Amino acid sequence: MTDKTEWQGSSGQTWSAQWRRTDRGFTHLTERLLDRTREHDFRQVLDIGCGAGELSLAIARNRPDVAVRGVDISPALIAAARERGSRFGNLQFELADAAEWHADDENSPDLLVSRHGVMFFDDPPGAFANLAHQAQPGARLLFSCFRDIAQNPCFAEVIRLLPEAPPPMDPAGPGPFAFADQDWVISILRAGGWESIDFERFDFPMIAGTGDDPVGDAVTYFSLIGPAARASAEMDIAARERFLARVRELCERNCRSGIVSLSAAAWIVTAKRSA
Ligand SMILES: C[S@@+](CC[C@H](N)C(=O)[O-])C[C@H]1O[C@@H](n2cnc3c(N)ncnc32)[C@H](O)[C@@H]1O
Repeated sequence: MTDKTEWQGSSGQTWSAQWRRTDRGFTHLTERLLDRTREHDFRQVLDIGCGAGELSLAIARNRPDVAVRGVDISPALIAAARERGSRFGNLQFELADAAEWHADDENSPDLLVSRHGVMFFDDPPGAFANLAHQAQPGARLLFSCFRDIAQNPCFAEVIRLLPEAPPPMDPAGPGPFAFADQDWVISILRAGGWESIDFERFDFPMIAGTGDDPVGDAVTYFSLIGPAARASAEMDIAARERFLARVRELCERNCRSGIVSLSAAAWIVTAKRSA
């Protein structure tokens, strides 16, 4: 489980130090989300749980004529996003809880986006109701989230190498797989005032290692990010070394043309604010 307080603290700090790795891992997903924004006519974008700002930056770069605002609960991630976005006149980042965020007259969004930033609310229907309330009539929602962990070898294969299976995650979250179940997502969005809900199944290679030593780079990635990282940080030195040696073998098996990648499975969810 990763909740709001963890993002405000240690998880936010790790992600802000490692944003280059997470953006590289999600390269194909970001491209697909950007592509899907092109289906809509929009002027004001809200990026929910924007993290270090990659999706906001991609939209702001692509559409200099629209205003983009990223909101996130982590001070460390908002600081990283502001630094990255400082050259863009059409981009702002705000430290805020999206579940309570209030638009003013000028920045009510007509497109709400998120790359994996919506699965961590304590009260998902309440958060999506607030977002619908702040959005313009007819506003569009476009976000990605992970499908079931079993369909995500990029995590499942690494977890399998742990000496002890971690406690099962609560499927209703909050956490990275909290939006895996379509019926649950539909019920949350409907309760929050969203309609025309649609799911695209999107599979992509999650890039974990590149450069001069792609395998070493990928082992570092898995020791820092993802569900196995926390368990490995709590191991004694010998157990951690054995675990990382097994991760290294996995990465070697999944290294092709100088890139280590394992497959990932996401939903891309779209919806429209009910009139
Ligand atoms: C998996 S990360 C994704 C970050 C970013 N969208 C990306 O793709 O790199 C989830 C993000 O959601 C943010 N988050 C969690 N709960 C939030 C809340 N209630 N309001 C705003 N942001 C939140 C976290 O701080 C974190 O940056």
